[in-house]
Amino acid sequence: MLDTGEVAVWTAVGTSDGLLDRKVQRAQIKATDLAVWRGEDGGVRAWSNRCPHRGMRLSYGFVRGNRLTCLYHGWTYDGTGGCALIPAHMKLTPPKTITVAMYRAAEAGGLIWVASSKTEGEPNFSGSWRAIRSIHIGAQASAVESAIEASPLESGHLVRASSPRAYIHELKDGGRVICALQEINDHQTMMHVAVEGSESLDRNQRIDAWTRRIRRAAEKLIAAAKSNRPVLEGAKV
Ligand code: FES
Repeated sequence: MLDTGEVAVWTAVGTSDGLLDRKVQRAQIKATDLAVWRGEDGGVRAWSNRCPHRGMRLSYGFVRGNRLTCLYHGWTYDGTGGCALIPAHMKLTPPKTITVAMYRAAEAGGLIWVASSKTEGEPNFSGSWRAIRSIHIGAQASAVESAIEASPLESGHLVRASSPRAYIHELKDGGRVICALQEINDHQTMMHVAVEGSESLDRNQRIDAWTRRIRRAAEKLIAAAKSNRPVLEGAKV
């Protein structure tokens, strides 16, 4: 198992309903490159996105049953990260030393979260949650955080959690919204948003519009910083 500071806290990398059974997708958290995949047992795994053979990205691979196969030479890894099959040597039992570096993975609050093996606890959001969307923002995470804190979703209470790395909006009408940031690099951030409670088209649309306002505001902060224009602290976005 790997441990890096970049995933020392639980970090969202996508929505639960965005990762179907037997699918794999790439997720980046700064220099940490992950292959996040779901087997036919429904379980989500987060692995280093590097095949132990020749370093091909495992996110280009494919899932069969509860195994992930590398696209390049077909080395196949079981759900525990161990190499189970080397097609060029079908009679060989792969050495137990051939393993993919693994991270922790969990699903909670409608989102998929990853963390290093040393991270304690698990994200835990009671109640029933639905993902609203994942939105790409062309700004560093700190600019997105500034935009969120300057313009929280509706009136209500905004709680900033450190692990999982997320904002929890406690709305006045009793519902909650998770807004989780995935820092891809110094210029890009993914924001994953989920809502608690029953389906409401009106509420979904309001949350969706808010995510787009946050994106505009964060990208504006970056543009202003680049052009040395002053940005009013606490300005509504
Ligand atoms: S690089 Fe993955 S099987 Fe060869």
